Amino acid sequence: MSNQVLQAISDRRSIRGYKASPLSKEQTDIILKAAVESPSALNAQPWHFSVVTNQNLIREINAEAVKNLALDIDDIFFAAPLVIFISTDADSRWGRLDSGIAVENMALAAHAIGLGSVILGLPDAAFTGPPGERFNILLKFPPKHTFAVAIAIGVPTETKEAHPIEPDRIDYIN
Ligand SMILES: Cc1cc2nc3c(=O)[nH]c(=O)nc-3n(C[C@H](O)[C@H](O)[C@H](O)COP(=O)(O)O)c2cc1C
Repeated sequence: MSNQVLQAISDRRSIRGYKASPLSKEQTDIILKAAVESPSALNAQPWHFSVVTNQNLIREINAEAVKNLALDIDDIFFAAPLVIFISTDADSRWGRLDSGIAVENMALAAHAIGLGSVILGLPDAAFTGPPGERFNILLKFPPKHTFAVAIAIGVPTETKEAHPIEPDRIDYIN
């Protein structure tokens, strides 16, 4: 069966290398439209999207995250020209789940217009200590919002194989 949505789901990959070239306003708008069109529990839309092209700020958040992570990685954002930080209402029962759905919508939208992306959980390490409060302000997180997940987006400089499928993750109960 040939279907563009199913094909996009199959072909999307986590991309970890980008050209420095910025996205156009049209490209950014398409991705944010896909984000706010996501479903959310009770239609609460408990999310906020901080759309960041300021490389100095991305570098600063990266430095704080890398400092707090005991990992052999020096750029958790892979030099992407655009990083979108999703924050969610800390009191929302399904806020993180809703944010996860929104971030996948953005990943698929980016893929659909020829861009690459990678969903990022590691930036959470930048929000754990005192500098996190400052980042909340710089990223314009609404009151009571905390970091949920991020996505780096740009023109890909690499391709990637699909991840292996593990069929035993599915049981059919008849
Ligand atoms: C919630 C979530 C958090 C992730 N965090 C990171 C991350 O911080 N850094 C990273 O390089 N990849 C991250 N990934 C990407 C996964 O490593 C990737 O989806 C997985 O290896 C499968 O590869 P694929 O996306 O190309 O199919 C994350 C993915 C998800 C869904």
